[in-house]
Amino acid sequence: MAQFYPEEIIQEVRANNDIVEIISDYVKLKRSGNTLKGLCPFHREKTPSFSVSPDKQLFHCFGCGVGGTVINFIMMIENLDFVEAIKFLAERARMTLPEGDFHGDHTKRYKQKQLILKINVEAAKFYYKNLLSHEGEIARKYLAKRRIKRKTITNFGLGYALNSWDSLLQYLLSKGYTIEEILSTGLIINNKGKSHYDRFRNRIIFPIIDLRGNVVGFGGRVLDDSLPKYLNSPETIVFNKSNTVYGMNFAKNAINNELIIVEGYMDVISLHQNGIINTVASLGTALTEEQAKIIKKYCQKAIIAYDADTAGQAATIRGMDILSKVGCKVNVLTLPEGKDPDEFIRIRGVERFQKTLKESKNLVEYKIELLKQKYDIDDIQQKVEFINEMAEIFAKIENSIECDAYVQKIAEETNINAQAIFAEMKKIKYRNNRKNNKSLEKINKNVNFVAGQTNANTNSKANIRLLNAEKMLINVLCYDKYVFNKVKELIQPSDFYNALHQKVASIIYHLREQGETIDPTEIVSKFENGEVSIVTSILHLDTNFEDNLKAAYELIDSINKEKNIQKIKSSLEEGNVEKLNTLLIEYKRK
Ligand code: CTP
Ligand code: MN
Repeated sequence: MAQFYPEEIIQEVRANNDIVEIISDYVKLKRSGNTLKGLCPFHREKTPSFSVSPDKQLFHCFGCGVGGTVINFIMMIENLDFVEAIKFLAERARMTLPEGDFHGDHTKRYKQKQLILKINVEAAKFYYKNLLSHEGEIARKYLAKRRIKRKTITNFGLGYALNSWDSLLQYLLSKGYTIEEILSTGLIINNKGKSHYDRFRNRIIFPIIDLRGNVVGFGGRVLDDSLPKYLNSPETIVFNKSNTVYGMNFAKNAINNELIIVEGYMDVISLHQNGIINTVASLGTALTEEQAKIIKKYCQKAIIAYDADTAGQAATIRGMDILSKVGCKVNVLTLPEGKDPDEFIRIRGVERFQKTLKESKNLVEYKIELLKQKYDIDDIQQKVEFINEMAEIFAKIENSIECDAYVQKIAEETNINAQAIFAEMKKIKYRNNRKNNKSLEKINKNVNFVAGQTNANTNSKANIRLLNAEKMLINVLCYDKYVFNKVKELIQPSDFYNALHQKVASIIYHLREQGETIDPTEIVSKFENGEVSIVTSILHLDTNFEDNLKAAYELIDSINKEKNIQKIKSSLEEGNVEKLNTLLIEYKRK
């Protein structure tokens, strides 16, 4: 990890900030055996799977997999980079950090972020005051026309940018900020180097608030039909549209496990006002993968409620694919053509909306719906194409009972013989299988032969067994010096199959040579952000073997055996016959 403080300082910061004490500021923890448990602050859950170990000074969530030291916790929960987190914790422990150029850049960035957030709050207050002022009457009227209540305005901090070129600029200057500082927020625009003017003029203002309550940016809507309808803050060091989910700061407190995803500011606000607070917006139609990951953290099921126009339909399918890809269950709510959730509620009322929510469709049902609209099944040729496309969709359904049910239903609805659909599906499945699985099947068969097993899934199971054995062994080697000394000649770091495990093992071997006990936080701190959670999941474990030494011997045995199978498998994949032969001879000898 690129560190800008010497290792001793980082150790001191860790030593002065007890992990239980720090995390207790954010999470309610309860003792349970050797550890403390609570609800994970990084994903939504009802039963606690977030665990903190006072002995190991590590945290780990069994639900979402995150983990690390107190420093990693602060980085994640406060959204700070490494150096910022060190400063944060040092300050909390009243430590003075050495000054020097080695952290100059990071301090500067941290200060810049804080400054932008501060100016944004000033601006939000200014816009809010404008809305309530005499000049804001036109904006208040607009919001009233859209049925937005006073309480909702306050809740969302809505505001009004005056019909003026520089009222915000002048206001912020009067507060003592420099032009350069204000420019960094994106709230003003440089006019060919000559003068500066406000980005948002004569617009309703929607502050965009992140999960921790920071105002990271703004959206602004015109009061009439002029274009562009919406303007947003540009990217700044605190605002990135593609990883911002509007309304998540409110929705994360909603208790049920569903999140409704809409397109725009007004949809979120209007649904919230009607008591449906588990609603967020992707700010435009194109849902990004980053947004999907955030959404996945807070719900088990997402319901997409975009406009029903063609652009909306395309965006819906794309959004569903992205959400499924990150592991989120997803349904679609189909609204009448041209209506978005805000208009729907205004015209038909919230009860009707609740009802359509209950009728939301899954991906298969939604695709069927679209196909029905696309083809006229009274026309024979179109009917054939309809069946073909439908069969493509059905062929991808893995659960055969579910698939059967859909085929029967469609057959009845369209008056098409179910057997005809099944026959078409069979052809497609056969084609797909042949394309994708030919080489894979061959490898599986061979590996299973070698492993002396017949189940087609043993392949990945063997891999998981191997990785788990390595994890448990590393854990024992880390915490049991006696066992380490007994087995260190039997297995070397380079003998581990997984590259990350090799790295952890070699750190442990190295530290063991130096001292008596190993501080697991010292190991974790040697890894990059992406690896911290995995390494922590290994070290946080309490293995509880009755006899550690016996367990270690068995683990080493099983690692050797599984590793050989994995090697054989990869030489099969490579098509390396020579290597394969040597391995097979070796394998049979053992
Ligand atoms: N959007 C944007 N820039 C635009 C148009 C739209 O950033 N020029 C984003 C906004 O976040 C907007 C969302 O896309 O809220 C959805 O756009 P649209 O459906 O056009 O607007 P509505 O939210 O329905 O706005 P309104 O009801 O106020 O017309
Ligand atoms: Mn709308």
